[in-house]
Amino acid sequence: MDTRRDFIKKSAIIGTALCLPVSLTRQSIAACPDLKTHSPKKVLILWYSQTGNTQRYARLVGCILKSKNIAVDELEFQETDKKILPDYDFIIVGSPVFYYDTPDNVIDWLGKIPSIKGTPVAAFVSFGGPEGNQHNASCHILKILASKGGVPVGRDAFRNIPSYPTPKWDSANQKSGQHLPNAATFDQIRRFTADTLTRISRGETISISYEIALREGLRALPLIWLNKKAMNKHTVDASKCIGCGTCVRKCPTKAINPFKQAVDRDKCLACFGCLNNCPADAVVMEYRGQRLYGFPEYLKRNNITIMEPPEFKTCT
Ligand SMILES: Cc1cc2nc3c(=O)[nH]c(=O)nc-3n(C[C@H](O)[C@H](O)[C@H](O)COP(=O)(O)O)c2cc1C
Ligand code: SF4
Ligand code: SF4
Repeated sequence: MDTRRDFIKKSAIIGTALCLPVSLTRQSIAACPDLKTHSPKKVLILWYSQTGNTQRYARLVGCILKSKNIAVDELEFQETDKKILPDYDFIIVGSPVFYYDTPDNVIDWLGKIPSIKGTPVAAFVSFGGPEGNQHNASCHILKILASKGGVPVGRDAFRNIPSYPTPKWDSANQKSGQHLPNAATFDQIRRFTADTLTRISRGETISISYEIALREGLRALPLIWLNKKAMNKHTVDASKCIGCGTCVRKCPTKAINPFKQAVDRDKCLACFGCLNNCPADAVVMEYRGQRLYGFPEYLKRNNITIMEPPEFKTCT
């Protein structure tokens, strides 16, 4: 039987056929005289994370900055008052890639921030597979920040174990990315952090250059809608639910009500945050008749421990 990703890909053939298989990409560097600072003292790292990967990277970036005696606030963006953003002299945003782009809730949130004119900004994404459109997703974040006056100084994408549930958790990306992040991933994050600081100190900025690639066509499709169509069941098993409220906290649109065993399918973004975080296996989701299970259960069944960087031992 097809996996959901196969189904989406098949549905995408018409859309992708119209796209050019060329890549117009990579960063170029230019001098920027308008940076608010050349030596950041107070940094905000805003992150969104459903299964911990992006949060782990945000934390590592924070540890590296703190080791240079820079004050850092690492905040989950949905719990952050947008008004505080202009108080910082460097803002870094981290997000996962969902459906070949930055998740809608992150885009909506960033679109409402106040002016951050002259503030150096950097973006990173965590992603699950090489064809996942990660470059453009991170550019999307930078583009919104730049529209608010932010000055782009860094961008990167860090691959890790994907947390996109398939019935058997056996897609090609899941198999090939199971061992990630590894030491090389953490080195990449250290370089990203050091390079952005160096650029700021030199008063340099990067340009936002989108890739024009086949996969970009997938974004034009109603992927979330297609996914929800294929999901014949999405509810809560009252006999298993322990009423912890984790699914409500993790749901970006407050579409789930575990106490009524209800999910508002119109509001749902098919992000799997409820399934991927329920500690009691009480969120019931079926894809074309096949029961899905969440990320923690997948890690447990496959005896996978996600690697953490050594910095976490000393950094608070
Ligand atoms: C709903 C959903 C959609 C996803 N779509 C993509 C995608 O289009 N491209 C990709 O590379 N990874 C995709 N992934 C994998 C995530 O980007 C990856 O697991 C990410 O590290 C999750 O970050 P988090 O642990 O911080 O939530 C998807 C995962 C989910 C749950
Ligand atoms: S109800 Fe939908 S939007 Fe809310 S966490 Fe679950 S999958 Fe995501
Ligand atoms: S996360 Fe699971 S156990 Fe907790 S309230 Fe939601 S459905 Fe119930």
